[in-house]
Amino acid sequence: MRPRIMTVYGTRPEAIKVAPVIRALEESAHFESVTVVTGQHREMLDQVNELFGIVPDHDLNIMSHGQTLAQIFARVIDGLDQILEKEKPTAVIVQGDTSTSTAAALAAFYRQIPVIHLEAGLRSGDISSPFPEEANRKITTQIAALHLAPTEVSKANLLTEGVLNADIVVTGNTVIDALLTTVGKELPFSDPALESLAASERRILLVTTHRRENWGGAMEGVGRALARIATAFPETEIVLPAHRNPIVREAVLPHLVGLPNITVTEPLAYGEFTRMLSLSTVILTDSGGVQEEAPSLGKPVLVMRENTERPEAVTAGTVRLIGTDEERIVADVTELLSNPIEYAKMANAVNPYGDGEASRRTVSAIRNRLIGSSDHIDEFTS
Ligand code: UD1
Ligand code: UDP
Repeated sequence: MRPRIMTVYGTRPEAIKVAPVIRALEESAHFESVTVVTGQHREMLDQVNELFGIVPDHDLNIMSHGQTLAQIFARVIDGLDQILEKEKPTAVIVQGDTSTSTAAALAAFYRQIPVIHLEAGLRSGDISSPFPEEANRKITTQIAALHLAPTEVSKANLLTEGVLNADIVVTGNTVIDALLTTVGKELPFSDPALESLAASERRILLVTTHRRENWGGAMEGVGRALARIATAFPETEIVLPAHRNPIVREAVLPHLVGLPNITVTEPLAYGEFTRMLSLSTVILTDSGGVQEEAPSLGKPVLVMRENTERPEAVTAGTVRLIGTDEERIVADVTELLSNPIEYAKMANAVNPYGDGEASRRTVSAIRNRLIGSSDHIDEFTS
């Protein structure tokens, strides 16, 4: 019997990053693939599964509005435990640092099923930022059997914490696999306003925000900063695909009402979003995934956070940490939109996070671990 690999995921970024791995597992003759979604996200998760043609085998459908961290955790553990009992997987794959990811890892661990951690070893060094993700990743590291690190930096973090070298493989980040399968395709925008923007010569400032530690005052400041930038740069279009979270919308959107050069949209389907990334002049974000994707497209990224677990593109000069202070956001965006020399310094295409082969390396690493194949794995180097 082939080893049965269960992939568990629940939010948009996990779905994007596991999609190429699920495909690679399905194509492999060595494994049987089972997929479980928790439904921590609903619309934003379904949107990704639809794009990649993935129909999950199980759906816990846990999302509720105003869900607390404890509720998500409890619902995932309880729901997944019953599926683990029925499916009896050989190993469980989790991705990253969401509540779904860590709760699923624990549920598997409690049943003594080996946990394979994708995107292992990211660390900001501050347990409260990103919250609760830094804690989630560290907990998953403690119980994972195989750690698939995207970069040498993340591998070094794991070694520092005492993870054995033999349990780590540097694969690159599977987000770059996903990006490369969509970005060149020029998928049409479902919103005609975005299609006419794409056909115009207008500069685009693409903005995303959602982080829990930025909820409240910091996010209000982001809204005020965007309104000031829109007024100062009337020839630039600000595009904000709004996260579905009502807390985020209530903090940011009231500041943007009536401004003619701000387009607020629903979350864009992944193919549309990556096309918008490639059309944009500057990206302003607190997203983890966007910090990984935009550098490979040569787009300057201003990150509205105090720290990052993704230092590689900061070192390369394409990403700058600017925090959430309103004045600093206005100042840094203004500089990039008005100073071509500063812009050119940041607009470098760099690929520290992957080369599009991470899911192939992931499947090889799992095969080596579970079946004992002695295939050589060409680890990712940036
Ligand atoms: C979650 C993850 C975060 C990840 C982010 C990606 C945790 C603790 N947080 O944060 O690490 O960066 O996803 O976006 O795991 N909602 C909808 N429809 C959707 C998605 C969300 O209505 O498709 C609303 C719901 O009201 C939900 C709320 O957003 O209660 C918050 O969702 P939740 O998953 O708790 O937190 P995120 O901020 O999305
Ligand atoms: N993304 C998307 N549509 C959008 C905004 C983002 O498909 O409207 C993608 C983006 O390309 C990236 C991922 O969603 O791959 C990031 O998700 P998010 O910022 O919600 O979570 P994080 O990466 O911060 O955990």
